[in-house]
Amino acid sequence: MSSLTSLKMLSVEEIDRILDDAERLYEVRHVGSRNGHVIANLFFEASTRTKCSFEMAQKQLGIDTLHFDVATSSVNKGEGLYDTAKTLESIGCDAFIIRHGETRYYEQLKGLTVPIINAGDGSGDHPTQSLLDLLTIRQEFGLFRGLKVVIVGDILHSRVAHSNIEVLERFGAEVYVSGPEEWIDEDIPREKRLTIDEAVEIADVVMLLRIQLERHDGEMLSNPDDYLQTYGLTMEREKRMKPHGIIMHPAPVNRGVEIDSSLVECERSRIFKQMNNGVAVRKAVLVRALHQKEAPVHVV
Ligand code: NCD
Repeated sequence: MSSLTSLKMLSVEEIDRILDDAERLYEVRHVGSRNGHVIANLFFEASTRTKCSFEMAQKQLGIDTLHFDVATSSVNKGEGLYDTAKTLESIGCDAFIIRHGETRYYEQLKGLTVPIINAGDGSGDHPTQSLLDLLTIRQEFGLFRGLKVVIVGDILHSRVAHSNIEVLERFGAEVYVSGPEEWIDEDIPREKRLTIDEAVEIADVVMLLRIQLERHDGEMLSNPDDYLQTYGLTMEREKRMKPHGIIMHPAPVNRGVEIDSSLVECERSRIFKQMNNGVAVRKAVLVRALHQKEAPVHVV
């Protein structure tokens, strides 16, 4: 049984294998027995795409899910994450998908014997988002080496940025960041920081991020249009992108803040393709976690 808490635990070859499995599992639908596995999805933070695409992947593979609603659970009586997970393991859950606001929350769960798939830990990591981003980029360009990827926005608070910078560099991409100085991690070198105007002209991939207001100390964005004009992808900047350049965003998108609303579904945008890839990638991660050599499924 294999956990996935960060892509740092996997080699480039292992990651490539998951992406190949995702391609293979794309059209796969379960039609036979449910194979007896039951997974609990524990989302302590809001989610639409990650939660629903894990659920879709589970349904398509014929895996059962145990409904767990944080709001009505004993978490409200003060029960901690470890005791909650240990309880669900004791009653027979075979794996957990967990999203939690605490960075590296999974370190408290070392006493569990079933796999944990990290669906996002604070501003730490988001391994399955990175996998679906890698798949999207690989489908588009066929390789990573030498590609210029610029991640734009609230880098410091973004688990998507942290996961993607690490893994894309390992795959040989040239990763740059762009955004307000105070939202860029101190350890990112000067030469990797670009203004948005520099970024759009050199990027093969412009990856935009939502401002993670829930991880800021109470500050609000005073004027969204100022942010768009200074740091965001406007229609004018999109026109200066390379002919083959693509736009990515993990979503949710705040239209008119980090990106002009009309660009969300423009020709360059791969935002909905990323979501689509998310189901296939999560099927591959689930199959890996449950150690099935072959998915218990038919291709239809
Ligand atoms: C991201 C997340 O939760 O980190 N969303 C997602 O999973 N697609 C990005 C975000 O919330 O801004």
